[in-house]
Amino acid sequence: MGEKSKILIIGGTGYIGKFVVEASAKSGHPTFALVREITVSDPVKAKLIDSFKNSGVTLLHGDLNNHESLVKAIKQVDVVISTTGKTSTDGSSPLLDQFKLIAAIKEAGNIKRFFPSEFGNDVDRVNAVEPAKTAYAMKAQLRRAIEAEGIPYTFVSSNYFAGYNLPHFGQPELSAPPREKAIILGDGNPKAVFVAEHDIGTYTIKAVDDPRTLNKILYMRPPKNMYSLNGLVSLWEKKIGKTLKRIYVPEDQVLKQIQESPIPIKITLAICHSVYVMGDQTNFEIEPSFGVEASELYPDVKYTTVDEYLDQFV
Ligand SMILES: NC(=O)c1ccc[n+]([C@@H]2O[C@H](COP(=O)([O-])OP(=O)(O)OC[C@H]3O[C@@H](n4cnc5c(N)ncnc54)[C@H](OP(=O)(O)O)[C@@H]3O)[C@@H](O)[C@H]2O)c1
Repeated sequence: MGEKSKILIIGGTGYIGKFVVEASAKSGHPTFALVREITVSDPVKAKLIDSFKNSGVTLLHGDLNNHESLVKAIKQVDVVISTTGKTSTDGSSPLLDQFKLIAAIKEAGNIKRFFPSEFGNDVDRVNAVEPAKTAYAMKAQLRRAIEAEGIPYTFVSSNYFAGYNLPHFGQPELSAPPREKAIILGDGNPKAVFVAEHDIGTYTIKAVDDPRTLNKILYMRPPKNMYSLNGLVSLWEKKIGKTLKRIYVPEDQVLKQIQESPIPIKITLAICHSVYVMGDQTNFEIEPSFGVEASELYPDVKYTTVDEYLDQFV
């Protein structure tokens, strides 16, 4: 076994990024986090940054919009993982700014693997409507640029973050599963995939030095975590010992609702349409030519199941 790669995480102070940083540090990879200077002065983020330091993470100051800072940071590591989000507080688009990251990786010339910020549906295999369609297309464009530059990559298709999406059962306005009636988008039969955030971190880091994930899409489809909305409601009913009223919303009404909703509900609903109505997380086979599945590659990971995850809401 060779030495563990040095990993740089860009976006480590974000929602999913902190789980990736934590998994990297825990697994013994020399871990670096690129953090913007303004972030250090944010009291909540400062606490998180302190916890990074306590786990042995090396902090580097930098910004996607500062080329020199990126090249300097990248030259110190072997692998770059980006977990940047959609929009920044200053109105910029860190997802789009990743094109600048590609330029910096090219200039540095030492990167063995790049994980761009994906962490969702497979953007090359979606049937989404706007505004989700454009967001997915942007991530797909980034994939094409990485391939064209010949940068070794892994694209992580983690599917749904459990913490973000499982509690609301496709009703973004809920913060816990419903107890009276379940609104079901479409016929409720296509299966979605829910993966606990710490498992996303663990699987991502396991893929870093794995030749099987080189230039592949790493899908996360743990078999016990694939549920249709109908299946999810049935599981929940069993847990709370009560039958919910199921109200089905036909697709044309879902589409109308998306059009009429304000941002950001519009985006969440368009993603729900792609996942729950179109079945975009599970409506295709993972072919060895383009992808591998995380729970098959790493059967030693004892992932949190949907059944276990829902217990906290009972
Ligand atoms: N599958 C799902 O259910 C799901 C749900 C949500 C998101 N996602 C995806 O997950 C990925 C990450 O999203 P997230 O919600 O975790 O992101 P987030 O919480 O918005 O975090 C974004 C991170 O990027 C950093 N950042 C922003 N602008 C930067 C810049 N100019 N230079 C350097 N760093 C910068 C932020 O730093 P600061 O801390 O300084 O702001 C933060 O650490 C995205 O691709 C998103 O589409 C998937």
